[in-house]
Amino acid sequence: MYILGIDTSCDDTSVAITDGTRILANSISSQDQIHREWGGVVPILAKREHEAQFARVLEIALKRAGLTLKSIDLIAVTEGPGLAPALEVGVRKAAELAQQYTIPVVPINHMEGHLFSSCASSRNGKGGFVPQPADFPLLGILVSGGHTEFVLVDGIGQYRIVGQTVDDALGEAYDKIARLLNLGYPGGSLLAQLANEGNPQAYPLPIAMRQSGDLNVSYSGLKTATVKLVKQLTDDGKKILTRQEITDVAASFQRAALETLLNKLRQAVKLYQPKHLLLGGGVAANAVLRQELRALAKTANAQLHVPYTLKLCRDNAAMIATAASLRQQFGVLQTVEPEKLDRRPRWSL
Ligand code: KG4
Ligand code: ZN
Repeated sequence: MYILGIDTSCDDTSVAITDGTRILANSISSQDQIHREWGGVVPILAKREHEAQFARVLEIALKRAGLTLKSIDLIAVTEGPGLAPALEVGVRKAAELAQQYTIPVVPINHMEGHLFSSCASSRNGKGGFVPQPADFPLLGILVSGGHTEFVLVDGIGQYRIVGQTVDDALGEAYDKIARLLNLGYPGGSLLAQLANEGNPQAYPLPIAMRQSGDLNVSYSGLKTATVKLVKQLTDDGKKILTRQEITDVAASFQRAALETLLNKLRQAVKLYQPKHLLLGGGVAANAVLRQELRALAKTANAQLHVPYTLKLCRDNAAMIATAASLRQQFGVLQTVEPEKLDRRPRWSL
């Protein structure tokens, strides 16, 4: 079954083609260059760029897959969550294609895409965990720029958010500290690189929500403590940080940020005893996080699944098509009339 995935939820225009959960093409046009100047994503510019790039991104995807629109069996499009003006473009393009070529269309939640990004495999069979009925419940660990959620998956389409951030998302915290250290945009991955060179024990930063009695996390306190630390180190902005200080701040921040997450995940696996952990979202690219989670999974007798390529961690349409394929395989695919498609900026799993 050939699925055409579409995602324009934020600042990447992406069109993918999969054969079930096997990726034939995953074309992405990044808008980083455009938003860099503004230090963050400008919704109206994102919309304009999605409109300008969509046809080209679609053409590349079809060419790479060696297919035409006539052979597509299903269109899967992100309706939300995300930026309303950006989502609108993908939803409208999906409706147009569905009508023009009479292809059934299914709306997909962007976070369901991140959740199952480790279920996608390459053309030649690399990666791709396909859950079997006996594997449930799975525990999804979603860490991106907009979300930090622990999702208990009782079945495909049956999700319970058992823990989440009460303020900033993990990726957002990385980006904010990257900006504080003047690392450029987008800063999360640069901060993670510098953290690898620093000493994670250099500065004591707080590990939040230890005693909260639930599985929620928080990152605003850590951000405030890091801002205060940088103020002290720079003598209130009078000095500039040495490279050693920068890498040490990065490493200390990362240690506290990840420990906050891991602390709650240790509790979650004890409580729900999942056999499989699924990692997804932009921060899933983080090597230290992966390493820590591998150790955690081993202790919990569970298996950790991560996307087989870093491209599946960032926003992309192959994960959207993969989620649709799993829904189809498990008999919970709900297609809609193209004119019923609508953007849902605040759609929660
Ligand atoms: O999933 P994504 O591409 O977009 C959202 O839907 O949010 O995630 C992007 C986020 C950004 O906050 C970025 O800084 C963060 O993922 N990120 C990282 C790393 N690579 C990307 N955070 C920590 N370590 C990384 N290696
Ligand atoms: Zn995302």
